[in-house]
Amino acid sequence: MIIPLAHRAGQTQEYYFSVKLAEVRKLLAAGHDVINIGIGNPDMMPSVQTLQTLADAAYRPDSHGYQSYKGTPALRQAIARFYAHTYGVDLETETEILPLIGSKEGITHISMTFLNDGDEVLVPELGYPAYRAVSRMVGAVVNEYPLDEQRGWQPDWDSLEARVSDKTKIIWLNYPHMPTGAPASRTLFERFVRFAHDHQVLLCHDNPYSLVLNQKAPISLLSVDGAREVTIELNSMSKSFNMAGWRIGWIAADKPYIDAVLTIKSNVDSGMFKPMMDAAAVALGNSDEWHAERNAVYAGRLEAVHAFLDALHCTYATDQEGMFIWAKLPESVPSAEKLVDDLLYQKHIFIAPGFIFGPKGNRYIRISLCMPKERIWEAVNRLKV
Ligand SMILES: Cc1ncc(COP(=O)(O)O)c(C=O)c1O
Repeated sequence: MIIPLAHRAGQTQEYYFSVKLAEVRKLLAAGHDVINIGIGNPDMMPSVQTLQTLADAAYRPDSHGYQSYKGTPALRQAIARFYAHTYGVDLETETEILPLIGSKEGITHISMTFLNDGDEVLVPELGYPAYRAVSRMVGAVVNEYPLDEQRGWQPDWDSLEARVSDKTKIIWLNYPHMPTGAPASRTLFERFVRFAHDHQVLLCHDNPYSLVLNQKAPISLLSVDGAREVTIELNSMSKSFNMAGWRIGWIAADKPYIDAVLTIKSNVDSGMFKPMMDAAAVALGNSDEWHAERNAVYAGRLEAVHAFLDALHCTYATDQEGMFIWAKLPESVPSAEKLVDDLLYQKHIFIAPGFIFGPKGNRYIRISLCMPKERIWEAVNRLKV
């Protein structure tokens, strides 16, 4: 017998990767060489100057105390410079940026800040699982909006319009889109902004992949006319800067939104470690060449991932952005779940099943590019025996 849990703990399931990676660890502990091409955990290093700054800052006596709830001014200035350089968006350093302990926690803070019991949240039918899970945790009602595969996984706007009610408060979007790799476009963002104004809903744009294998200049939703009144944008250093374990992200938005989220967040955590913020500020200045080299490595892995998917007779788009390839299963495969388990236990290869991003993903899988190409080719070879 244990003390009864809150309803939300009973309703929420443990995160898929938290469960599945425990199985992977068991296989590893038993001596099996598992190739993990399931998870988006960058295997490359942060820039050298980032690491040097972290090490140097750790030795300074003023580095170890509590820090401001809003991060250091140097980090916020670096984020503002990054937004100006990358997206042409001007952010006010003092008032329009809130550093986060990874962008994932921002989903919780935003949800706690804006959602009352029974409010409705629109989430893409395929998307990062936390949008759905957190909305439910705070007592909101999740309404999934369809994405149209024929139109490059953009929303099916008629169905989306039909799902809005006077209780709809937030709509989550994320382009470049995870898991489908659909790119962002200015026209798409303009449509979302019109939608938000028409229905008075908050656009929460999750933008961690804008610099990963992007084919055009990266876009921030905040650069679209009229977006500022209705938008909060999350961004992250996990993917584009190879710093997933550092847990550094931020929210960019107009001051009233930042102030409101800070009210909640400042009651939850007590800031971040200063050397990490110093180093993150340096990383944000990584050159365009540094990013291009990182992307060249990912691009060099595509051939192996395509060969892997071809061997499984899957179909996929070749112009996907971000660090994953999304692929459709052939009719001959009974289910993604069975394929994932067969590959894990028979071939010691871990891939992600599409259903963890929503039921529409039942007939899909997602392969990560975060593995040296030699290892991905090894996975291809394992399929042959
Ligand atoms: C779409 C999307 N949003 C947010 C996150 C969370 O990123 P972070 O490491 O900044 O919490 C991820 C991580 O996989 C993601 O894929």
